[in-house]
Amino acid sequence: MDISGRTVLMVGGTAGIGLALARRFAAAGSTVVVGGRSTDRVEDLETVRIDVTDAGSVLAARDEVLAKHPDLDLVVTMSGVMLLEDLRDPAHGEQAETTVAVNLLGTIRVIDAFTPHLIGRGSGDILTVTSGIGFVPFPLMATYGATKAGVHSYTESLRAHLAGTGVGVTELIPPAVANAGQQRLNPNALPMDGFLDEVLGLLQQDPTPAEIVVEAAQYLRRAGRNGTYADLLAARSKPLEQLPGR
Ligand SMILES: NC(=O)c1ccc[n+]([C@@H]2O[C@H](COP(=O)([O-])OP(=O)(O)OC[C@H]3O[C@@H](n4cnc5c(N)ncnc54)[C@H](OP(=O)(O)O)[C@@H]3O)[C@@H](O)[C@H]2O)c1
Repeated sequence: MDISGRTVLMVGGTAGIGLALARRFAAAGSTVVVGGRSTDRVEDLETVRIDVTDAGSVLAARDEVLAKHPDLDLVVTMSGVMLLEDLRDPAHGEQAETTVAVNLLGTIRVIDAFTPHLIGRGSGDILTVTSGIGFVPFPLMATYGATKAGVHSYTESLRAHLAGTGVGVTELIPPAVANAGQQRLNPNALPMDGFLDEVLGLLQQDPTPAEIVVEAAQYLRRAGRNGTYADLLAARSKPLEQLPGR
């Protein structure tokens, strides 16, 4: 995939991985628009206000972006929330609904908004974003893992639907990466710059791999086929002991 001559919409580009990846595309020479609810956080890139939980907001953002950038040829569905849940307490339902609304339905809404444009131009790319947790759960974030497994499955179906249209579908599968929250919670999270160096190297391979999996995410992506899944899941269930009453 070329990264230098693109016109990119990074939905979920107002913070974290999305903002850092958007800046890399811009530095490589691409035109980049970042989207999110908190557009005032970003001063160095063009922004569009978008709430992926609101169908009207997604369509309004699409119209605004396509009016300014009729040559848009890469849409990234980066928006996501990572919420902790205690499944013994039904009050977790609120976190579950938010997580599904942003991570799964939000991804589908954004893709639906832009597929007619991309198919119409006969070329372009959609980059979805899942997680290593979509491949081996981290039970403290149960719905998060469920939505990322869901986006993985949806991405595979989308690729089949768009075959022959000229629109490529690629899945980014990050491991823990040091955004603001991860830096606090997970000292083992990958530094952002090294992660992005690897991601951009993989994205620029020809042909672009269907899945962008950096080295540190491989153990999760491969766990289902190499016999490590049960042990990993047991280890990743340990933090549940920290929940109240366990
Ligand atoms: N960091 C990690 O360790 C890690 C690991 C695996 C996968 N991922 C995935 O990578 C993606 C980015 O994660 P991150 O760590 O960079 O997260 P982050 O720093 O929290 O950024 C999340 C982004 O999602 C946007 N967003 C959240 N709710 C939204 C909504 N309702 N409408 C539109 N945008 C919304 C935020 O924008 P606003 O607040 O401005 O709306 C922000 O731009 C997520 O999909 C995450 O699941 C992250």
